[in-house]
Formats: sequence, structure tokens, C-alpha cells
Amino acid sequence: MKKLLIRGGKKLEGSVEIVGAKNAALPLMVSSILTSEKLTLTNIPHVSDIANMANLLISLGIAVEMDGSPQDFGSQGRVLKFDASKISNPVAPYELVRKMRASIFILGPLLARMGKAKVSLPGGCAIGTRPVDLHLKAMEKLGAKIELHGGYIEASVDGRLKGAEINFEKVSVGATENAMMAATLAEGETVLNNAACEPEIIDLANCLNAMGAKIFGAGTPRIIIHGVERLGSARHRIISDRIEAGTYAIAAGITGGKIRLIGPEMWIMTGFKEELEKAGIVLKQVSSNEIEVSREGAVINPVSISTHPYPGFPTDMQAQFMSLMAIANGASTIEETIFENRFMHVLELVRMGANIEAHGNISVVKGVKELSGAEVMATDLRASVSLVLAGLVANGETIINRLYHLERGYERLAEKLISCGADIKILY
Ligand code: EPU
Repeated sequence: MKKLLIRGGKKLEGSVEIVGAKNAALPLMVSSILTSEKLTLTNIPHVSDIANMANLLISLGIAVEMDGSPQDFGSQGRVLKFDASKISNPVAPYELVRKMRASIFILGPLLARMGKAKVSLPGGCAIGTRPVDLHLKAMEKLGAKIELHGGYIEASVDGRLKGAEINFEKVSVGATENAMMAATLAEGETVLNNAACEPEIIDLANCLNAMGAKIFGAGTPRIIIHGVERLGSARHRIISDRIEAGTYAIAAGITGGKIRLIGPEMWIMTGFKEELEKAGIVLKQVSSNEIEVSREGAVINPVSISTHPYPGFPTDMQAQFMSLMAIANGASTIEETIFENRFMHVLELVRMGANIEAHGNISVVKGVKELSGAEVMATDLRASVSLVLAGLVANGETIINRLYHLERGYERLAEKLISCGADIKILY
């Protein structure tokens, strides 16, 4: 199994390409189910979750084609074309769903396009129980019949889905996306209240509207969708990955270096830009699609955060921010309010010399002068990258096991860090 060997202590300097957002790309790929015409997505990130989603769509009978090759990181390799004109199999088996929870996104689009869907229940997850009840309730509101049998969700609808008012009892990115996609082809008007407002939702709505959908208010808590009979083709560029951008911003800040992020506009840093600045990290938009990130002073200031749905501090940046706080000049608290078990990195960081105590969903981080390298275990995508960040600044050698977690959501992470001067080896 692949591992990373990091020798810490190098100031990172250089440029890093920020690719399309994984969490925007996944529902966008699924939206191809909604049309018999071609959907073309550009700025595709080469991460394993995208490959898993492509395999799931292929298993449904959708033709998926890349312009370049999987080794092509230029513009051609970032173009995926989807043709769901021959979609035939509305089933997502356990083998595919267990690899990637985002498989649940196909439920709404399959119901809308084929009138039926059979999707394995995703099961447990390293960061929390992550139920799918909000997805199921939304589909029922839209007129679907849902039954659970043998670990599978079996959903069907007579004729078209029917527009409805859906009041989400909790803000959910995935349930908002699922309901929004399904409602594009429903009969009549759908209103989503307490909808998630993440940039990835806006990106999905923009693409669906380019396909002919009539979605209003995406990016606000109230989304209105006027159902249409059919959707057509579109070509859509996926927005930049704000979490990848934030992760490299912390890489620059934690090592006291300077990194130019190529691709993103500053607005995508909403929710954590201010916290990074309070910590002493300077972010400057130096051209329309380039942000320069550097550290202002000799020390990192302690900053307390609490994760919230957008535009709050994103849960997907919490672990990385904790690594930064681990070497801050003072104490901070980090509260996780989205997932109940997203502190798996705490004990690994403690093994690297951090002084962190977790009390329920709050961690008290007392900054230490230096971290020390250790062999650590990655548990999920963001926890893993937080250990990489800690390794970049730790004394001595850090070995990160279970690299496949990182490969789910970070394209060529080691290569990009190495190009900025990090001392990293990939061990096979
Ligand atoms: N929830 C329910 N019932 C549901 C759905 C969600 O109770 O039916 C709960 C969840 O358990 C959680 C909260 O609602 O406590 C919010 O979960 P949400 O549905 O918003 O998360 P998600 O759609 O499953 C997406 C991202 C996650 C990211 C969260 C929160 C994708 C593919 N995944 O997940 O990304 O953490 O939103 O922003 O978009 C990651 O990239 O590392 C990652 C985990």
C-alpha cells in the first residue's frame, strides 16, 4: 500500500494549480442522467471519487468518454462527456455505493428520468453516521414510493414526479442537490426551504439551467424550481475546488512560505478567509484567477472556529485548520457541528507532539513550539491531509499510511507539494 514519507521543515514556495471541485463534479456528473442529450463537463479533477462515479454511471448504461487520457492533466484530460441516451439499469449496487457515499445522488435523477431506482444504502462512515433520511423524505414529497429491502432503497413513481414544497429539517448539501435535480423534471413547481447554499449548489443549478432547467434562488436557503418536460445538452466548466485552495493556503501558512494558487477567485474562500487572515495568513488576488498566499509574521495567531453550513466555516477545512492551530502562539477551540465523529485526526496529531484535548465536539488546541514527525494513520480524506500539513512543519520524518484516502479528493497532492519545495517521497 502506498505511503508518504515527509521530511518537515521546508518553507513552501511556488505555484499550484487548483482543479475543479470534487464535490461540485460528483453531482454534476450525475445530472447527465436527466437528459438523453450530451453533457460535457470541463475542469474535471483527476481523483479517485470521480473515477468511482464514472464507473457507477457506466454501470447504469451511460457512455462516459474523456477527451484526453487519464494521465493527461492538460485541458483535454479535464473534459468528460456523458451520453445517457441508452440508460438502462437503474441500480446502484453495494460494491459501488460502499466506496462512495455520493452514489446516493443518482436516486433523484433516476426517479425523474426512469421512474424507478434501486440504490444500496451507503452504510457507516468514518466521520459520522451520515443517514440519508432527508434524501428519502424529499423524494417521497415529490411523489415517489420508497421501500427499504435487504439493504437497498427501492424507489418508484407512477408517471412524473410532482412538484412540492420541501422543508428540510436540517441543512444538507447532498439532499438539496438530489431534490433539486429530481425537481427539474417534475410536474409543476417545487420549493426547497432551508436548502444548503454552498457554491457547489450554485454550480449545479447553473449547469442544470444551461441544460434547460428553470431553477431560481440557488445559493439562498429558498430554491424554486419550475419543472420542465425534458432537459437538453450543455457544456459546463466546474468551479474551482475551494477546499483544495484552502488546504494549499494552509500549507503556505503553516510552513511560513508563499504559494500562488492558480485557478480560483477569492470569493470561493468565503467562510474561512477571515479566519486564515486572523491567524496571520495573507491572501491577495493577484490576477483574475490567481491568489497569492503567504504568512505575515513569525508566529501563527490562535483563532477559535466552529463549523457551520455555508457561508460558515466549512467542516471540510476543520482538520487542516486544527493542524495550523497546533503550532499557534496560544490556545484555540475548534468546534465541529456538522459531523459527530470528525476528530479522528486529533489523536494522530497528538502523536506528533500536538497538545489537543477533545471534549465531545469541541477540541481545545494549545499551540506548541514544534511538532515532531511520527508514523500516522489516515482515516478519511480531510483528516489525512491535516496530517500531511502537520508533517510539512514537523521535525524529522512523518509517514502517512493509507494514501488512498487522500487520492479520493486531492489530485497529485505529493507532486504539487514537491513542486513547491516540500521534501516528500511516495513509498510503494
Ligand atoms: N444528514 C442527515 N440526513 C441526511 C443527510 C444528511 O441527517 O439525509 C446530516 C449529516 O449526517 C450531517 C449533516 O446532515 O450531519 C450535513 O450533511 P450533508 O448532507 O450536508 O453532507 P453530504 O452532502 O453527505 C457533502 C460533502 C462533504 C461535506 C458535507 C458538508 C459531497 C460529495 N460531500 O456531504 O464532503 O463534508 O457536504 O459540507 O458533496 C469531503 O469532501 O471530505 C466531504 C466529506
